[in-house]
Amino acid sequence: MRLHGKVAIVTGAGGGIGSATARRFAEEGSMVACVDVDATTAAAAADAVEAAGGQAIAVAADVSTRDGNHQMVEETVARFGGLDVLHANAAVQVMGRIEDTTEDDWDTLETTNLRGVYLGVQQALPRLRERGGGSIIVTASLLGIVGDPEMPAYGAMKGGLRALCRALAAAHGPENIRCNTICPGDVETPMNAQFFDHQADPAAARAEVASRYPLRRFASPEDVANVAVFLASDEASYLNGIDIVVDGGLLARIY
Ligand SMILES: NC(=O)c1ccc[n+]([C@@H]2O[C@H](COP(=O)([O-])OP(=O)(O)OC[C@H]3O[C@@H](n4cnc5c(N)ncnc54)[C@H](O)[C@@H]3O)[C@@H](O)[C@H]2O)c1
Repeated sequence: MRLHGKVAIVTGAGGGIGSATARRFAEEGSMVACVDVDATTAAAAADAVEAAGGQAIAVAADVSTRDGNHQMVEETVARFGGLDVLHANAAVQVMGRIEDTTEDDWDTLETTNLRGVYLGVQQALPRLRERGGGSIIVTASLLGIVGDPEMPAYGAMKGGLRALCRALAAAHGPENIRCNTICPGDVETPMNAQFFDHQADPAAARAEVASRYPLRRFASPEDVANVAVFLASDEASYLNGIDIVVDGGLLARIY
């Protein structure tokens, strides 16, 4: 019970990494608000937590808006009495080389993936402060560290999140509010499947990419969720302003 008594918000909780994180947080004793723009998957995530004996609420909210972020924080505090952890994890993926990226594509990515985190943190900070501190965990990406020619705009947002996190770490460390990112490589989720489904031979493309990983597989959502549990817990009490790369050794490999 590494998160006993804590209250956490997980955004994108209807998706692969978010639903696994909500489950793992609850298994470690946290109360969880499962936030997603998709009300059905948000409810399914909360139901899964409750079915396993945890405490959860579903919040159907769009994190790209100020109102959506306000709603998610206020519903969480109304139900559970406070807030200790924000896992800002919701995102969308738009593919395309730079000359194929429209301004609409850019705006879609910016609005959810970057502005969504800024707005969420703004709403969460006063509530974290009320508890005497907390943990902000942002799901960035390996593509915020290294470049993918097919996803320059997505990578730009993820790189921006890493910079945002460092500024938050510096600004709010004195209030005992830590901010760190998780930078996963490929993770077996619907978003990842969307990428490979666009390839001419999805199975062959997946196998080829997986073969580049020293661990010879993609991450499971739980591989990432376990890192989120650590960052949310007091075990990570001196980690602030860092990126944890969860990539099975991909960045370590040159040949
Ligand atoms: N899967 C991967 O390979 C991979 C790799 C690196 C980073 N990531 C990052 O991990 C995070 C989770 O991705 P995933 O793979 O679980 O994807 P996913 O598509 O399974 O889940 C994302 C969830 O976010 C929700 N969402 C999207 N826009 C929203 C909005 N405006 N408001 C609220 N919810 C919204 C979606 O409905 C979905 O349920 C994302 O930040 C993603 O960029 C994923």
